[in-house]
Amino acid sequence: MASYASASFMLVLLLQLWSCSEALPGGHPVDPTCPPEWASAAGTTSNYGEPSCQPPAPHIPVALFPYDVDPMQFALNLEYTEAEFFLHAAYGVGLDEIAPKLALGGPPPVGARKANLDEVTWRIIAEFGLQEVGHVRAIQRTVGGIPRPLIDLSAHNFARIMDEAFGYHLNPSFDPYINTLNFLLASYVVPYLGLNGYVGTNPIINGYETKKLLAGLLGVEAGQDAVFRGLLFERRGEAVPQYGNITVTEFTDRVSALRNRLGRCGVKDEGLTVPRELGAEGAICTNVLSAGRDSLSYARTPAELLRILYLTGDEHVPGGFYPEGANGRIARILKLLWVGTVSLSVPACEPRGLSSELLAGSLGFSVISADNFPRVVDTAFEYTEPSLRPQHQQLQLPARLLLSYMIPYLGINSYVWRIARRSGLLHDTKQKKGQQHLRLA
Ligand SMILES: [Fe+2]
Repeated sequence: MASYASASFMLVLLLQLWSCSEALPGGHPVDPTCPPEWASAAGTTSNYGEPSCQPPAPHIPVALFPYDVDPMQFALNLEYTEAEFFLHAAYGVGLDEIAPKLALGGPPPVGARKANLDEVTWRIIAEFGLQEVGHVRAIQRTVGGIPRPLIDLSAHNFARIMDEAFGYHLNPSFDPYINTLNFLLASYVVPYLGLNGYVGTNPIINGYETKKLLAGLLGVEAGQDAVFRGLLFERRGEAVPQYGNITVTEFTDRVSALRNRLGRCGVKDEGLTVPRELGAEGAICTNVLSAGRDSLSYARTPAELLRILYLTGDEHVPGGFYPEGANGRIARILKLLWVGTVSLSVPACEPRGLSSELLAGSLGFSVISADNFPRVVDTAFEYTEPSLRPQHQQLQLPARLLLSYMIPYLGINSYVWRIARRSGLLHDTKQKKGQQHLRLA
């Protein structure tokens, strides 16, 4: 039944794409943007295999380094999210109908639905949604895949984001699917974070295939964000219907401020207008593209992104878009390292490898219980066979385990950890119900 539905949808989709004439919102019978035949500009006789068409040989002839895998797989969380959000908004269905194998068995998203969009916006969102399918496929092909996480794309979740952004309950509750402007405002939330993530990932990957992948993803992600911001900038002075005098500009300002607040790493996000001194070269208030000094894009680490996407301000505490947590080794370990008391005190703000990311996370999380360690170790090493697990008695000594298992895995010189403890940053605290705890001083 599922495969029949899937095949039917693909047939409809193909017919739509071929004819470019039916089922467009507004019932436009002819699509003026579809060329009548293969455009002459695209139909060249060039042979793409010619040496002159190929990039020069890489200086380091390694396609993929092992440490490239985790950060690129982490990006799949955002790509899945964008794919489901845009595809559902445009077509009313998501990856499960369009490319079911790419979900890798992950659960379907919650609350995503077809949006009430004008024709131009529908076209843009449909294109972006299909682009995201390619992004998911390209990452899976290059570094391997992770299952789609549970993604909450419900109107309720977006309403919560906007309520958080404004600091009070918007009445009526914000609904991204109700009209074009609301959908554009909701779309302001996600691709920008993908862009930040890729800029942050760039310095910590080295394989030439991984770099090619990241550059290709970053280019389109930045383009998508620019389209959303450009469309919103055109309407910056408009009052958002149902919300009195609140303008598009204020919505974007509030969302950007919220992301800065949750990210806990200073200003890496700006609305559509800024004080002149923060604009490009300190000379303009217009801020169609969000960028920092020298007009370079801001970078965010996976931990920062999770703080924002979870809406908790804590990369160890799932929520928001990912009620059960994001997938991939980075997110899973960060989640497992939390047992529920004190919040982070050492936020990870600079791009760095998984090792340092997790060190920062480790210093940041406050309590490690012996009970929690087997799961942490299993996740870190991806043990599937019980016989491969460390002996249980070793798990009764969290501090020793940190030095003997976690630290070598993380690639961190154990002196770092010892220094952290000797300097008083960490110390053993108490025995409680058979658990030994480490606590931030
Ligand atoms: Fe994407």
